[in-house]
Amino acid sequence: MKIALLGTGAGARAHVAKLLALGHQVTVGTRDPEVTLARTEPDMMGTPPFSTFLAKHPELTLATFADAAAAGELVINGIDGINAVRALSAIPAEALAGKVLMDYAVPYIYQQPDEVEHPWPTPWGVMPRMSPVDTDSLAEQIQRAVPDAKVVKACVTQEQETVVNPNEIGGGDHTIFIAGNHADAKQTVADLLNAYGWRDILDLGELPAARGLEMYAHFHAAVHTALGGERFGVKIVRK
Ligand SMILES: NC(=O)c1ccc[n+]([C@@H]2O[C@H](COP(=O)([O-])OP(=O)(O)OC[C@H]3O[C@@H](n4cnc5c(N)ncnc54)[C@H](OP(=O)(O)O)[C@@H]3O)[C@@H](O)[C@H]2O)c1
Repeated sequence: MKIALLGTGAGARAHVAKLLALGHQVTVGTRDPEVTLARTEPDMMGTPPFSTFLAKHPELTLATFADAAAAGELVINGIDGINAVRALSAIPAEALAGKVLMDYAVPYIYQQPDEVEHPWPTPWGVMPRMSPVDTDSLAEQIQRAVPDAKVVKACVTQEQETVVNPNEIGGGDHTIFIAGNHADAKQTVADLLNAYGWRDILDLGELPAARGLEMYAHFHAAVHTALGGERFGVKIVRK
C-alpha cells in the first residue's frame, strides 16, 4: 500500500522502518525537504538528523507534508502535537479527502522548566502540559480541521518501538486502543496494527475517546519513569 507518514521524528521513523519491512511504499512528509536534509544536529530528544535515517532506507521518498499526503492511500500523522492542526490544515483538502488519517500525536506543550508547576523526572527533565484536555482532544481538533478525512486515534499508549513490535513485550499479550467516527477507517487501522503484530485491539468507540487516550500520556510517563525507563505494555483483563 502507498502510505504517507507525516513527520520525521523518532516516532515516525519507527513506523516507517516497520512499514518498509512490511513491503509498503512510504512517503515521509516534512515542512521543507531541503531544510530537513541539511540538518546535521540531533533534535531535543537526541534523535539523529533525518539524513542518517534516509541513508539506511534509500527506498524512502521525502516530500512536503502536502505532497506526501497526496501520495498516500493511508496517511499517518506524526507531526509535533501542538503544531499538527495548523500543519494539517495547510494541506490542500483533496490530498486528504476520503482517506484514513491515523493520528498518534500527543498534544504536549513543551515549556521551560521554570514554567512547569509540577516537574517530573521524565527523560526530557520536566513533564510538559497538554492542550487540549478534558473537553476536547487533538484528534477531534484534527477531524474538525480536515473534515473529509477519516481520523482514527491510535498508538499513543505505548512507546513507538512497542507499537511497531508488540511481540517484544510479554510475548505480545497486551492491548492497543483505537477510536474514531468511521468504522471502515478503524478497520483499516486495525488491519495495519494486526500486521504490526497486535492481537488485542480494543475499539473505544467514537473520537471523543481520544481524550482519554491522549491524557493517558501522563500516566504512561509516570509508569515509564517508575520502571527506570523500561518499555511496558498495557493489558485489559476481561472478566
Ligand atoms: N507511541 C506514541 O504514542 C508516540 C511515540 C512518539 C511520538 N509520539 C507523538 O508523535 C508526535 C511526533 O513525535 P516525534 O517525537 O516523532 O517528533 P517531534 O519532534 O515531536 O515532531 C517532529 C515533526 O513535527 C514537525 N513540526 C515541528 N514543529 C512544527 C511546526 N512549527 N510546524 C509544522 N510541523 C512541525 C516536524 O517537521 P519537520 O520534519 O519539518 O522538522 C517533524 O516532522 C508527538 O506529538 C509525540 O508526542 C507518540
